[in-house]
Amino acid sequence: MAKDKSVKELEDLPGIGPTSAEKLRSSGYATIERVAASSPYELSELLGISAENAKKAVDAAKEATNIEVQTGADVLERRKAIGKISTGAAGFDELLGGGVETNGITEVYGRFASGKTQIGFQLAVNVQKSIDKGGLAGAVLFIDTEATFRPERIESIAKASGMNAKEVLDNIFVARATSTEQQILTAERADKLIREKNIKLVIVDSLMALFRSEFIGRGALNERQQKLNAHIHKLQRLADTYSLAVYITNQVMDNPGLLFGDPTTPVGGNVVAHAATTRLYIRKSKEEKRIIRLVDSPNMPEGETVIKITPDGIKD
Ligand code: GTP
Ligand code: MG
Repeated sequence: MAKDKSVKELEDLPGIGPTSAEKLRSSGYATIERVAASSPYELSELLGISAENAKKAVDAAKEATNIEVQTGADVLERRKAIGKISTGAAGFDELLGGGVETNGITEVYGRFASGKTQIGFQLAVNVQKSIDKGGLAGAVLFIDTEATFRPERIESIAKASGMNAKEVLDNIFVARATSTEQQILTAERADKLIREKNIKLVIVDSLMALFRSEFIGRGALNERQQKLNAHIHKLQRLADTYSLAVYITNQVMDNPGLLFGDPTTPVGGNVVAHAATTRLYIRKSKEEKRIIRLVDSPNMPEGETVIKITPDGIKD
């Protein structure tokens, strides 16, 4: 737990610029905690800085990693401060205990054309509404890994809510990523944008597509999961630091060995399963109907609801 709120990244340490931070990361000193546990001597050797300056960095890292405890009442106070973004469908909101929560990661997985991206569009509009209207009066960072962001669709959804479509689009910052490296860097470097634009929703659509296409075969699995783990933890840190909601979409794979039940499993393995605060499974029903199942939630019971994907967006 960071005590000194101003020290979160290696770059926040005194005397550590981007080059030194990069050197630290590539040498295995990836976290503030790791730097706190190292000696000024090894740091000065590694970075070619004076032992005195190295000591300042180590001391600041130590200061930032003092253990901080909270009472249960403090935690409850914090929980009350958690914001919720309405999905636009009362039944869906109810399933989630009020809407998509800030300070956590909400994952929706399902087959292609099941509606994962559509939910993302709806949230990107709704988060901009005032709090009394189910929003957080905030902007959106949309990390688009599949080139499926559709401004026209946002326009229709916004207009259906009586909002100014141009303003709504102006508050959605779309980062198109064509490699996992770009995807990871976008999240790594998002802090400034989030602060400046009051971003309250970060969407990663989809989380796994690029990871799956770049890391092929068993041999690459370890590396893939390590990078994925770091990426998703960065997303969680953004959620915590800025009290924002993270919405990620995920693909599924068939699990033909399973004889009973639904044979689809989200991809990404334990890394994604453990990191997602809330997991939802969406599947097609008749026509525009979709069934959404709450698979995992810290405070809500499992359950199902039906939504419709209409020209005006997500409805009951
Ligand atoms: P993948 O990204 O391919 O995995 O799918 P996805 O789960 O993201 O699906 P997406 O959210 O793109 O949903 C696609 C479905 O939404 C379409 O098959 C349509 O049923 C519906 N849809 C998309 N655009 C519109 C629209 O403008 N109007 C209406 N009524 N439905 C739409
Ligand atoms: Mg999609």
